[in-house]
Amino acid sequence: MKNFIFAFILFALLLTVNAAPFKFNKRTTTFSACPNFPNAEPLNVSITPDPPKSGTDEKFGVSGALTKHDIVKNKTILGIAYADLQQKPIGDPYHSAFNESYKAGKEFSVSADFSAPQLPVSYFIAVAVGDPTGDPKNPLDVYGCAYALIV
Ligand SMILES: *[C@@H]1O[C@H](CO)[C@@H](O)[C@H](O)[C@H]1NC(C)=O
Ligand SMILES: *[C@@H]1O[C@H](CO)[C@@H](O)[C@H](O)[C@H]1NC(C)=O
Ligand SMILES: *[C@@H]1O[C@H](CO)[C@@H](O)[C@H](O)[C@H]1NC(C)=O
Repeated sequence: MKNFIFAFILFALLLTVNAAPFKFNKRTTTFSACPNFPNAEPLNVSITPDPPKSGTDEKFGVSGALTKHDIVKNKTILGIAYADLQQKPIGDPYHSAFNESYKAGKEFSVSADFSAPQLPVSYFIAVAVGDPTGDPKNPLDVYGCAYALIV
Protein backbone atom coordinates (compact mmCIF):
# COMPACT_ATOMS: atom_id res chain seq x y z
CA MET A 1 0.00 0.00 0.00
CA LYS A 2 1.25 3.42 -0.89
CA ASN A 3 2.23 5.57 2.03
CA PHE A 4 0.31 8.61 0.89
CA ILE A 5 -2.91 6.63 0.74
CA PHE A 6 -2.35 5.49 4.25
CA ALA A 7 -1.63 9.05 5.38
CA PHE A 8 -4.80 10.18 3.72
CA ILE A 9 -6.89 7.65 5.57
CA LEU A 10 -5.37 8.34 8.96
CA PHE A 11 -5.84 12.04 8.61
CA ALA A 12 -9.36 11.58 7.36
CA LEU A 13 -9.79 9.72 10.59
CA LEU A 14 -8.54 12.68 12.56
CA LEU A 15 -10.77 15.05 10.67
CA THR A 16 -13.79 13.27 11.99
CA VAL A 17 -12.64 13.46 15.59
CA ASN A 18 -14.48 15.68 18.00
CA ALA A 19 -11.98 17.68 20.04
CA ALA A 20 -14.39 18.07 22.99
CA PRO A 21 -13.79 15.08 25.26
CA PHE A 22 -10.51 15.88 26.94
CA LYS A 23 -9.30 17.27 30.21
CA PHE A 24 -6.52 19.70 30.90
CA ASN A 25 -3.41 18.89 32.90
CA LYS A 26 -3.59 15.15 32.54
CA ARG A 27 -0.64 13.35 34.02
CA THR A 28 -1.00 10.40 31.68
CA THR A 29 -2.15 10.53 28.11
CA THR A 30 -5.45 8.73 27.72
CA PHE A 31 -6.54 7.32 24.41
CA SER A 32 -10.25 7.27 23.57
CA ALA A 33 -12.36 5.45 21.03
CA CYS A 34 -12.76 7.30 17.72
CA PRO A 35 -16.29 8.72 17.95
CA ASN A 36 -17.14 8.75 14.27
CA PHE A 37 -15.98 5.21 13.63
CA PRO A 38 -18.76 3.36 15.45
CA ASN A 39 -17.75 0.10 13.79
CA ALA A 40 -14.17 0.40 14.96
CA GLU A 41 -13.49 -1.13 18.34
CA PRO A 42 -11.38 0.71 20.92
CA LEU A 43 -7.70 -0.05 21.42
CA ASN A 44 -5.61 0.25 24.56
CA VAL A 45 -2.64 2.44 23.80
CA SER A 46 0.25 3.35 26.06
CA ILE A 47 3.11 5.63 25.12
CA THR A 48 6.63 5.96 26.48
CA PRO A 49 7.81 8.63 27.06
CA ASP A 50 4.53 10.30 27.96
CA PRO A 51 4.10 12.90 26.57
CA PRO A 52 6.22 12.30 23.44
CA LYS A 53 9.39 14.34 22.96
CA SER A 54 10.13 15.81 19.53
CA GLY A 55 12.77 13.90 17.61
CA THR A 56 13.10 11.02 20.07
CA ASP A 57 11.95 7.43 19.80
CA GLU A 58 8.44 6.90 21.03
CA LYS A 59 7.31 3.44 22.08
CA PHE A 60 3.65 2.64 21.43
CA GLY A 61 2.10 -0.32 23.19
CA VAL A 62 -1.14 -1.27 21.47
CA SER A 63 -3.42 -3.98 22.81
CA GLY A 64 -7.00 -5.06 22.80
CA ALA A 65 -9.30 -7.73 21.52
CA LEU A 66 -11.13 -7.06 18.29
CA THR A 67 -14.29 -9.11 18.55
CA LYS A 68 -15.50 -8.79 14.96
CA HIS A 69 -12.37 -9.18 12.82
CA ASP A 70 -9.39 -11.47 12.62
CA ILE A 71 -6.00 -9.83 12.55
CA VAL A 72 -4.14 -11.45 9.68
CA LYS A 73 -0.36 -11.66 9.65
CA ASN A 74 1.29 -9.64 6.85
CA LYS A 75 -2.06 -8.15 5.87
CA THR A 76 -3.61 -6.27 8.79
CA ILE A 77 -1.87 -2.99 9.44
CA LEU A 78 -1.09 -0.98 12.54
CA GLY A 79 -0.92 2.72 11.73
CA ILE A 80 0.03 5.71 13.86
CA ALA A 81 -0.13 9.37 12.90
CA TYR A 82 0.34 12.81 14.42
CA ALA A 83 -1.61 15.91 13.42
CA ASP A 84 -1.85 19.45 14.70
CA LEU A 85 -5.04 21.05 16.06
CA GLN A 86 -5.95 22.20 12.55
CA GLN A 87 -5.70 18.48 11.76
CA LYS A 88 -2.81 19.02 9.42
CA PRO A 89 -0.48 16.01 9.36
CA ILE A 90 2.80 16.33 11.24
CA GLY A 91 5.48 14.20 9.61
CA ASP A 92 4.90 10.87 7.89
CA PRO A 93 2.62 8.32 9.50
CA TYR A 94 3.91 4.98 10.74
CA HIS A 95 2.55 1.75 9.42
CA SER A 96 3.52 -1.86 9.94
CA ALA A 97 1.85 -5.13 9.07
CA PHE A 98 1.14 -7.44 11.98
CA ASN A 99 3.70 -10.19 12.47
CA GLU A 100 1.22 -12.63 14.00
CA SER A 101 -2.38 -13.57 13.29
CA TYR A 102 -5.02 -13.23 16.01
CA LYS A 103 -8.48 -14.72 15.72
CA ALA A 104 -11.40 -12.39 16.43
CA GLY A 105 -11.84 -12.10 20.19
CA LYS A 106 -8.28 -13.12 20.98
CA GLU A 107 -6.32 -10.53 22.89
CA PHE A 108 -3.31 -9.09 21.12
CA SER A 109 -0.50 -6.90 22.31
CA VAL A 110 2.08 -5.36 20.00
CA SER A 111 4.55 -2.55 20.22
CA ALA A 112 5.92 -0.11 17.71
CA ASP A 113 8.84 2.30 17.86
CA PHE A 114 8.16 5.47 15.96
CA SER A 115 10.42 8.49 16.15
CA ALA A 116 8.36 11.54 17.11
CA PRO A 117 8.37 14.41 14.60
CA GLN A 118 8.89 18.06 15.61
CA LEU A 119 5.77 18.57 17.73
CA PRO A 120 3.82 21.72 18.55
CA VAL A 121 2.48 22.32 22.08
CA SER A 122 -0.87 20.68 21.31
CA TYR A 123 -1.58 17.92 18.83
CA PHE A 124 -3.45 14.71 18.09
CA ILE A 125 -2.16 11.16 17.94
CA ALA A 126 -4.23 8.56 16.12
CA VAL A 127 -3.74 4.79 16.19
CA ALA A 128 -5.61 2.51 13.82
CA VAL A 129 -5.80 -1.19 13.01
CA GLY A 130 -7.30 -2.27 9.70
CA ASP A 131 -7.01 -4.16 6.46
CA PRO A 132 -6.07 -2.65 3.11
CA THR A 133 -8.99 -2.99 0.72
CA GLY A 134 -7.27 -2.38 -2.62
CA ASP A 135 -9.89 0.31 -3.28
CA PRO A 136 -8.18 3.70 -3.65
CA LYS A 137 -11.37 5.51 -2.61
CA ASN A 138 -11.54 3.63 0.66
CA PRO A 139 -8.07 2.12 1.04
CA LEU A 140 -8.26 0.92 4.64
CA ASP A 141 -11.03 -0.95 6.38
CA VAL A 142 -10.51 0.46 9.89
CA TYR A 143 -11.75 -1.85 12.64
CA GLY A 144 -9.72 -0.72 15.61
CA CYS A 145 -9.12 2.91 16.44
CA ALA A 146 -8.02 5.19 19.27
CA TYR A 147 -6.89 8.77 19.50
CA ALA A 148 -5.52 11.19 22.06
CA LEU A 149 -5.38 14.95 22.21
CA ILE A 150 -2.26 16.24 23.89
CA VAL A 151 -2.52 19.77 25.25
C1 LIG B 1 -7.72 -2.17 28.24
O1 LIG B 1 -7.07 -2.48 29.44
C2 LIG B 1 -7.96 -2.61 30.53
C3 LIG B 1 -7.13 -2.79 31.79
O2 LIG B 1 -6.06 -3.66 31.57
C4 LIG B 1 -8.90 -3.78 30.28
O3 LIG B 1 -9.79 -3.95 31.34
C5 LIG B 1 -9.67 -3.49 29.02
O4 LIG B 1 -10.48 -4.59 28.69
C6 LIG B 1 -8.72 -3.22 27.86
N1 LIG B 1 -9.49 -2.77 26.71
C7 LIG B 1 -9.35 -3.34 25.54
C8 LIG B 1 -10.13 -2.72 24.42
O5 LIG B 1 -8.64 -4.32 25.39
C1 LIG C 1 5.27 -12.30 5.66
O1 LIG C 1 6.22 -11.41 5.13
C2 LIG C 1 7.54 -11.83 5.32
C3 LIG C 1 8.48 -10.72 4.88
O2 LIG C 1 8.02 -10.08 3.73
C4 LIG C 1 7.74 -13.13 4.55
O3 LIG C 1 9.07 -13.58 4.75
C5 LIG C 1 6.77 -14.16 5.05
O4 LIG C 1 6.88 -15.34 4.29
C6 LIG C 1 5.36 -13.64 4.98
N1 LIG C 1 4.47 -14.60 5.66
C7 LIG C 1 3.28 -14.90 5.20
C8 LIG C 1 2.47 -15.84 6.03
O5 LIG C 1 2.83 -14.43 4.16
C1 LIG D 1 6.53 -6.40 13.25
O1 LIG D 1 7.89 -6.66 13.49
C2 LIG D 1 8.73 -5.53 13.32
C3 LIG D 1 10.16 -5.99 13.46
O2 LIG D 1 10.34 -6.64 14.68
C4 LIG D 1 8.36 -4.48 14.35
O3 LIG D 1 9.16 -3.33 14.19
C5 LIG D 1 6.90 -4.11 14.17
O4 LIG D 1 6.50 -3.20 15.19
C6 LIG D 1 6.01 -5.34 14.21
N1 LIG D 1 4.67 -4.93 13.84
C7 LIG D 1 3.61 -5.22 14.57
C8 LIG D 1 2.30 -4.63 14.13
O5 LIG D 1 3.66 -5.90 15.58
